[in-house]
Amino acid sequence: MSILVTGGAGYIGAHVVRALGRAGLDSVVVDDLSSGHREFVDPDVPFLDLNVLQGEQLVERLADHSIDAVIHLAAFKYAGVSVERPLHTWSQNVVGTLSLLEAMAQLDVGAIVFSSSAAVYGTPDVPLVTEQTVTSPQSPYGESKLVGEWMIRDQAVASGLRHTSLRYFNVVGSGEPDLYDSSPHNLFPLVIRALTQGQQPKIFGDDYATPDGTCVRDYVHVADLALAHVSAVRRLLEGADVEPVYNLGSGDGVSVREIMDSVAKATGIDFSPQVLGRRRGDPARIVASGELAARDLDWKMRHTLDDMVASAWQARPAG
Ligand code: UFG
Repeated sequence: MSILVTGGAGYIGAHVVRALGRAGLDSVVVDDLSSGHREFVDPDVPFLDLNVLQGEQLVERLADHSIDAVIHLAAFKYAGVSVERPLHTWSQNVVGTLSLLEAMAQLDVGAIVFSSSAAVYGTPDVPLVTEQTVTSPQSPYGESKLVGEWMIRDQAVASGLRHTSLRYFNVVGSGEPDLYDSSPHNLFPLVIRALTQGQQPKIFGDDYATPDGTCVRDYVHVADLALAHVSAVRRLLEGADVEPVYNLGSGDGVSVREIMDSVAKATGIDFSPQVLGRRRGDPARIVASGELAARDLDWKMRHTLDDMVASAWQARPAG
């Protein structure tokens, strides 16, 4: 019995593969290494260098692996970039998920955990997002994740596929010293890169209607997030009740300025962030309740914000 993890060589996927291994579950990784790192996947984990769009090859090469469930993380995840490259986003994230679902049907794989995103909510006007909050994506990326959820839901009606979608909020930190976020667009890796290069980190806007004027987000530790995937896939395999959607949020909002303060504390570097104008498309605040996931997926914050910052700093790549 194995779990297929698409995108398993990425920052989040590699944490999921390690968490599955610790829970006694074997993985097979499919990743085209467009943003993942081959060295993030342990050599004893079967690795297929494929894009999920390569449906025929997926079927052919997975046939011998006795796959029982899929955790589907492979996607392009930058909301801003997706506005510039909508067709690329739709192709990789929507057609890619379709291709994977077709391969699953051919291989008779009956369970999927889908990596979805807070981006499906756009700019919510509620202090605490719940799974009932209206979805209103504001980028092709957010749309592609919502369509992915819908495709899976429809396929479940037709085929009995067991499924759940996990909507991630801001995933940060490192659960392993050799796994790090190499994103060129997100706050944590950008701040770390700036400091390692002796530059000042940047704050995109301090004139928002928030307590200190900077954007407020819901930061969760990647190792906690990985464990929620283990719980979700286990429940699907056991036939336990599972909701179609869970928010993986902490219920706590933290501002960009507060992140900067925590970084200064963790690194001991005295710096003054450079305040720039707002970044296009950034909501002032998005914070979610993780209550439903806490009830079903043993979702809890095992790490503090300082743990998130310190672990990200410790795992930073050289140079
Ligand atoms: N920010 C800075 N300086 C930087 C980088 C980011 O001030 O150098 C700010 C952003 O403006 C934003 C906050 O830090 O206010 C967090 O930005 P990130 O890019 O780290 O994360 P986002 O909240 O924009 O995006 C995250 C996920 C997306 C997902 C989105 C949904 O990375 O995949 O949440 O809300 F779509």
